[in-house]
Amino acid sequence: MRVAVIGLGYVGLPLAAAVAATGANVIGIEIDAEKVKAVNAGQSPLRGQEPGLADLVGEQVSKGRLRASLDPKEASGVDAVAVCVETPIDPTTHDPSYKALKAALAGVAPLLKRGALVSIESTLAPGTMEGVVRPALERGSKRTVGRDLYLVHCPERLTTGKLLHHLTELPRVLGANDEASMRKGVAFYERFVKAEIHATDWTTAEVVKTAENAYWDVQIAFANEVALISEELGVDAFRVRDLVNTCPYRMMLSPGAGVGGHCIPKDPWLLVSPAVQSKPELIPTAREVNDFMPRRMARIVEEALAASGRKIKGARVAVLGFTYRENTDDTRNSPAKIVIQELRRRGAEIAIHDPFARSERGYAVLRDVNAATKGADCVAIVTAHDEYRKLDLKALLRRMRHPAFVDGRDVYAGPDLVKMGFVYRGIGKGQF
Ligand SMILES: NC(=O)c1ccc[n+]([C@@H]2O[C@H](COP(=O)([O-])OP(=O)(O)OC[C@H]3O[C@@H](n4cnc5c(N)ncnc54)[C@H](O)[C@@H]3O)[C@@H](O)[C@H]2O)c1
Repeated sequence: MRVAVIGLGYVGLPLAAAVAATGANVIGIEIDAEKVKAVNAGQSPLRGQEPGLADLVGEQVSKGRLRASLDPKEASGVDAVAVCVETPIDPTTHDPSYKALKAALAGVAPLLKRGALVSIESTLAPGTMEGVVRPALERGSKRTVGRDLYLVHCPERLTTGKLLHHLTELPRVLGANDEASMRKGVAFYERFVKAEIHATDWTTAEVVKTAENAYWDVQIAFANEVALISEELGVDAFRVRDLVNTCPYRMMLSPGAGVGGHCIPKDPWLLVSPAVQSKPELIPTAREVNDFMPRRMARIVEEALAASGRKIKGARVAVLGFTYRENTDDTRNSPAKIVIQELRRRGAEIAIHDPFARSERGYAVLRDVNAATKGADCVAIVTAHDEYRKLDLKALLRRMRHPAFVDGRDVYAGPDLVKMGFVYRGIGKGQF
C-alpha cells in the first residue's frame, strides 16, 4: 500500500511513522524544508519528551518505508492520503482560516487515482467536509466521492507528550457519508489503531472533535473561575478542588496560568462558528475566562513583587516555562507569551527559561535555569516542566535579589516556601 501524509507536524509525523510500521510505503509531503531534511535523515523534528517517536521515525526511514518531500507530485497515484495540516482561526474574528487545508487539497486532488481514499485528520468546523473539502477534491480530481473517490473525516485525538501512544491506543471517530468510504476508512485505520473505531457521518465527526475540546476548555474555565473566587476569599483552590472531588461524580480540573496549544484555544471557536440560531454563550465565555488567566498571572507577579518590597518597573522576572504544556517543545498560543507581554508592559525585565522550547522573535529562551534566575526579583513558574519540580530552592533563594516566587501551576506547596523565606503567591493560592 502507498500512503501520502500531507503535513508532518505533531499529528502527521507520528501518523506517517505508524502507518509505515504496518508495512506501507509512506511519503510525507511538507512545506517546511527543515522538517523534510530531519525526517529524511531519520530524525524527528520534534523536541520534548515523545516516547518512541524518534526511534520509530529512524527505524522506518532506514527500512526505506518512510520518506519526506517538498514536492506534492510525489503523492501521485497513492492508495490513501491523510491530510494533517494546521486549521487555525482568525485571531480577530475567530472564524476558521483554511489556507493550509485548501492549499493541501488543491495540491493533492489532481494526483488522486481512481479508488483512492482521502482522510481528513485535521480538526474542522462543522460543515467543512461538505462545504469545503468535498467540492475541492471533486473539482481538482474530476472524480465523485462515493463512486471513484472515497472520503472520510477521522479527527485526530492525540496530545503532545503522548503522540504515539494516543495514536494507536485511543478509540477513533470515523465520519463517512457513504458505505464504500466507510469500509475503506475502517480498513485503513484498523492497520494501526488498536482501539474501537466508531462509525458516523462527516458532520457528527466534526461536531464530536470540536465538542471534545470545547468540553475540556469549559471544564478548565470552571476550575479557573473557582480559582479566581478562591484567591479573593483567601482559600486554596487546589484544596477546594480535592474536597469537591470527594463528592461523587465531581471531577473538577486544576486551575492554572492559562490554556494554550494549537487546539484547545481554537476548537471551541470552530464548534460555535456555524451556529447562528442557537447563539452559543457558555463556550465563548469559557474562552474569555481562560484567556484572562495569563493576565491574572502577571498581576500576581506584580503583587508578589510589591509584597517583597519591589516595584515591578525595572524588576527582573525569571519566567520558568515558555511552552504551553509541560515537557514538550510546543509553544503555539502559549500563555507564557501573554504573561511576558503583560509583564513587559508593566516595565519588568524578563529572562525566559525553558528546557525544550526554541527561541522566537522577541522571546530569547535560556537553557540554564541558574543563569535565568540569577539576580531575579521574582521567579514565575508558567509551565510545570519536570525540571521545575526539582529546583534547589535554597540555592535559588541565594541567587535572587528579592524573594518573590509565583507558582502558576501548583508545583510547590506554599507554606514550605514561605518557611524558607520566599514571598509565595500563585494561581488559586489564596493568601500566605
Ligand atoms: N497537536 C495536537 O495535539 C493535535 C491533536 C489533535 C488534532 N490536531 C489537529 O490536527 C491538525 C494538525 O495539527 P498539528 O498540531 O499537527 O499542526 P502542525 O502545525 O504541527 O503541523 C501541520 C504541518 O502541516 C504543514 N503544512 C501546512 N500546509 C501544508 C501544505 N499545503 N502541504 C504540506 N504541508 C503543509 C506545516 O508546515 C506543518 O508542519 C490541526 O487541525 C489540529 O487542530 C492537533
